[in-house]
Amino acid sequence: MLLSLLPLLLLLLVRASQASHFLGTMMTYYPEETFTDGSVSVVLRYKLNFVSCSHSDAWQCNGNCGAQTQTLNLSVVEEVSGEWCQREGAITRLLPNNAGFETLLAGGDWIYSIQNGILSWRAVTAVEMRNRSDIGKHNTSPQTTILPALRIPSNCAKNINLLAFDPDGDEVRCRYGNTSASECDPCTPPSVLSVSSNCSLSFSPTYSNTELHYAVQLVIEDFPTQNMNLIQTDGSQEVKTTNDAISKIPLQFVLKVGPPVPSCEDGAYLPRFLPPTPENRAQLFALAGQALEINIRAEATQSVITGLLYSGPYNAVKNSSGSGNFSLTWTPSASEGGQSHPICFVVQANYSNTLLHSDLRCVIVTVGNSPTTTTIPTVVSTNQMTLQTTVAPTTTTTTTTTTTPNLTVSAANQTILQSTAVTIATTTTTPIPTVVSTNQMTEQTTEAPTTTTTTTTTPIPIVVSTNQTTEQTTVAITTATTTPTTLASTGANVTTSAPGPQYIIALNMMISTTLSLGNNSDYIITLIKNKLIEKGLPSNISLRLLSSGLVAVTTASP
Ligand SMILES: *[C@@H]1O[C@H](CO)[C@@H](O)[C@H](O)[C@H]1NC(C)=O
Ligand SMILES: *[C@@H]1O[C@H](CO)[C@@H](O)[C@H](O)[C@H]1NC(C)=O
Ligand SMILES: *[C@@H]1O[C@H](CO)[C@@H](O)[C@H](O)[C@H]1NC(C)=O
Ligand SMILES: *[C@@H]1O[C@H](CO)[C@@H](O)[C@H](O)[C@H]1NC(C)=O
Ligand SMILES: *[C@@H]1O[C@H](CO)[C@@H](O)[C@H](O)[C@H]1NC(C)=O
Ligand SMILES: *[C@@H]1O[C@H](CO)[C@@H](O)[C@H](O)[C@H]1NC(C)=O
Ligand SMILES: *[C@@H]1O[C@H](CO)[C@@H](O)[C@H](O)[C@H]1NC(C)=O
Ligand SMILES: *[C@@H]1O[C@H](CO)[C@@H](O)[C@H](O)[C@H]1NC(C)=O
Repeated sequence: MLLSLLPLLLLLLVRASQASHFLGTMMTYYPEETFTDGSVSVVLRYKLNFVSCSHSDAWQCNGNCGAQTQTLNLSVVEEVSGEWCQREGAITRLLPNNAGFETLLAGGDWIYSIQNGILSWRAVTAVEMRNRSDIGKHNTSPQTTILPALRIPSNCAKNINLLAFDPDGDEVRCRYGNTSASECDPCTPPSVLSVSSNCSLSFSPTYSNTELHYAVQLVIEDFPTQNMNLIQTDGSQEVKTTNDAISKIPLQFVLKVGPPVPSCEDGAYLPRFLPPTPENRAQLFALAGQALEINIRAEATQSVITGLLYSGPYNAVKNSSGSGNFSLTWTPSASEGGQSHPICFVVQANYSNTLLHSDLRCVIVTVGNSPTTTTIPTVVSTNQMTLQTTVAPTTTTTTTTTTTPNLTVSAANQTILQSTAVTIATTTTTPIPTVVSTNQMTEQTTEAPTTTTTTTTTPIPIVVSTNQTTEQTTVAITTATTTPTTLASTGANVTTSAPGPQYIIALNMMISTTLSLGNNSDYIITLIKNKLIEKGLPSNISLRLLSSGLVAVTTASP
């Protein structure tokens, strides 16, 4: 029996090692629950890219791995027949305590003729689960995704701006994997592509006439914006400085460098995105159980647009309503409430039998928990036409609600903000359930004179709903940051800066939403924080809800 099995096994091994079919992977994680006995659960989401949807490999776990349940069996996200298939999977691990672990994906081989000489695949995720002293909870990894293959014509100097979003507000940095740290096997980077720590990849033209493939093996890490401690279940602590990575995730894909095109201009041969396509790295919001539709439009005058390719949740639905017009519709589930999920896409075109890609675009969808009532107002739309329901800019903010904005940043935290003066004063009656936006918001930066007037040139769509049925939560925020020089106060909520560059020294905004502060406070805080950061506050501000329903904003002292 043994004898007859042996040759068969050998044969299988040989065949497996000859299979050249890998096109990269990606893994991120979210902590889920902490139980009273100290055990914690974490969900690991990953993508596997192979030539065919029938190829497979499984992540191994090393360390405090606990028990595993498969939350999502490998499900096809997108397939380009004969070229690649991307599938998504998710694993939940219940850990006995909050010590971390590593996951490893290793095997062979990448697709044929990888120019930078990579054969075997190897990808590592380092999961940090200790309690963080700065945010009072477990770490979440950076969130990202990527298509299995991106195409660039060999004569076009292009940048690929990868998505690097951290739900904890950490600083995210990208780098190539390190062979000596066994992060890949080996990690030799493509000679044609350089990576900057802000996750922008820059391609140097090669002018080759044949299609060449490169394995891109990146590692993405999150760094705290101030020193903090990691606290283990047993009470032991470790300090992490702003130069210590908290967690790391792999992001691997294939760069396909194709023959030259007559012009590298976007919109000629290479498809160019048009409105209402969301901007790259835009943050969109959706409620669990409700469909979010992302409209995507592209044009190419000298080539034929053949389709939209995306990477994101496997259950997003792609639709096309005529050449160049696409939509992606995704309905997050309740278990995804409070999380942020990335979606990346390219539009593909065909020019004399050569496939061409638009730039890569990525968005982050932040999922709120739905109120339990069924009378939920309209679905959040990503169309910026809807979102730009604006309020006329004013010099003084209107705070029409019960709450007096009496929260100020203490004078000790003096922070200079290099940004234009911003006044946010919004009360709208648009029936949209959450704070939204990010699309197409061109902020006009006028260098205002050194007067004491506040100029706002931006229609700021802190869009809010009035809903007849459900409870209404009103959050009022006032932040005031002083400049180290003079502070001119009008006595109202808005003041202006001393001469020189403009500072935000006061900001007042009012948001009302049908979401409940009770069970959506994290989500609401995330929305507000993102809005403030978008308006020029540093990303290391921290927000907390005060008992009165007010939000306190503090800036870390420089
Ligand atoms: C995943 O597949 C296994 C084996 O086929 C099955 O037992 C399990 O129920 C599946 N899990 C989910 C979440 O579908
Ligand atoms: C994490 O620590 C904070 C205090 O620093 C504490 O309030 C919180 O309950 C802890 N959370 C977990 C999940 O251990
Ligand atoms: C990222 O860094 C590169 C080089 O350091 C720079 O050219 C580019 O503008 C940066 N991109 C962003 C989005 O900040
Ligand atoms: C796709 O779009 C077409 C045309 O707009 C529409 O008729 C069809 O119902 C859509 N399909 C889905 C699944 O949304
Ligand atoms: C695509 O959409 C735009 C506006 O949304 C519309 O003007 C155009 O006719 C559409 N094109 C096709 C081919 O459906
Ligand atoms: C590209 O277009 C050519 C003819 O214009 C066609 O023969 C070929 O099949 C197309 N390729 C793809 C991948 O669509
Ligand atoms: C959210 O809070 C509201 C009111 O506080 C409550 O009625 C509802 O059941 C809660 N929803 C969830 C999903 O916990
Ligand atoms: C917070 O961010 C600001 C602006 O980016 C920076 O100047 C300051 O040093 C940061 N503070 C800390 C404690 O990291």
